[in-house]
Amino acid sequence: MGRLIIVSNRVPSPHERVQPAGGLTVGLADVVRGVESLWFGWSGQHTEEAVAQEVTCETVAGVTYATIDLTSAQHERYYEHFSNDLIWPLFHYRPGIITYHRQDLAAYYGVNDLFADRLAPLLRRDDTIWVHDYHLIPLGQALRARGVAGKIGFFLHIPCPPWSVMRVLPCAEELLRAMVAYDLIGVQTEEDARNLGECYEVMGMDRTVRAFPIGIDPRGFEQEAKDNFGDPEVRRLRESLRGRKLIIGVDRLDYSKGLLERLHGYEALLKRFPEHLRGVVFVQIAPPSREGVANYQALRRELDELVGFINGKHADFDWTPIRYLTQPVPRHLLAAFHRLADVALVTPLRDGMNLVAKEFVAAQDDADPGVLILSHFAGAAPDMPEALLVNPYDTDEIADALHQALTMSLVARQNRWRALRAEVGLNTAAEWAKRFLSTLEASAPSS
Ligand code: ADP
Ligand code: F6P
Repeated sequence: MGRLIIVSNRVPSPHERVQPAGGLTVGLADVVRGVESLWFGWSGQHTEEAVAQEVTCETVAGVTYATIDLTSAQHERYYEHFSNDLIWPLFHYRPGIITYHRQDLAAYYGVNDLFADRLAPLLRRDDTIWVHDYHLIPLGQALRARGVAGKIGFFLHIPCPPWSVMRVLPCAEELLRAMVAYDLIGVQTEEDARNLGECYEVMGMDRTVRAFPIGIDPRGFEQEAKDNFGDPEVRRLRESLRGRKLIIGVDRLDYSKGLLERLHGYEALLKRFPEHLRGVVFVQIAPPSREGVANYQALRRELDELVGFINGKHADFDWTPIRYLTQPVPRHLLAAFHRLADVALVTPLRDGMNLVAKEFVAAQDDADPGVLILSHFAGAAPDMPEALLVNPYDTDEIADALHQALTMSLVARQNRWRALRAEVGLNTAAEWAKRFLSTLEASAPSS
């Protein structure tokens, strides 16, 4: 059997290679374990020397990580502009905030060609190649142009909008045609599959797109939550609550996560249900992301201002309603914090899947489980109907759900949580990969 080749823009950084953090890398960590595999992508480093873009290889626990540096110009145009200031907002249904420049499209193709140039010589005939996410849509085509004939699959981790939104992208048809080089195209949800299928229909092309909702390693995360529950940091958090209920939010600092709307929802709770004043603490952990992109910088300023405003307005001498952390929190502590929390607010305006929702569920204690409040617009929502589902734009609905969660009986919490835990346990990251890869193996070669 050949090797599994994973290609993604982001590859776990050296210190994360045993226990990676971040949506895509968390999902894939389980997949490469125990299989002869090579993971190719960007090193996370910049070089000023285009000529120095050679591959660096490091093997950890049987996985070879092969990475290249990007120049600052490539990083800016391919990653910050084209990937994260055009495709990201557009695919998250936000055409109003995109920016497009032809030079960025050229840089996007340039980096995909560079990836193909550096990856092709590392490949063997019987390798199976699995390309991940929106940074690398034309990579399959670039590999085919270099004579790579084996199976190549593509998985889109972010939402896929309908044609009416997709067509805003000036190069939409070109990119969709490039994707035909893949033997299998997978997306997160049935809605995404319908949308992408519709795009091909409009273009007069017959292309099957399939949904493969990604999962987590629920047992691993549950164990991590249990093992670290007694840690001094977790004790410090528990003691600092002084019996108050804990509401938790964990997200990259990204406008798609609905952080501002969530804060307004929490403030609506404090105003409309004053019995919770002084009785709850909302801990929002939001590590900064894509800090070179203007929309992310603006969001950070708005969050700073809104958190300050709500705290200033509602705090008492000995109680602060929101604790807002932008510094990173280690993954093992996050797991234990989830276990301690009474409620999780996972309210993206749009999200491919949202692994945090699944991690919160996996971390709970059957004897006293917390309640998940989840946006209808997370890819996870269709498979998690026992969460309290909300429209994240309706701040009063968030407040109502918070009140319901904070006052829910133990039996109702257990019933909801047990159903959610069963669903999270059914579709693990390992199962997700197995389903995708076996479908890829069985697929007809791309035309
Ligand atoms: P996205 O891929 O858009 O960031 P997901 O919710 O799908 O969103 O995945 C985020 C992943 O990153 C989760 O596994 C989550 O636990 C992890 N994560 C989020 N915030 C932190 C943090 N502060 N420290 C470590 N891991 C984090
Ligand atoms: O899940 C979507 C995604 O863009 C992944 O591809 C990526 O690993 C994660 O979000 C974090 O984003 P970034 O790699 O830009 O920090």
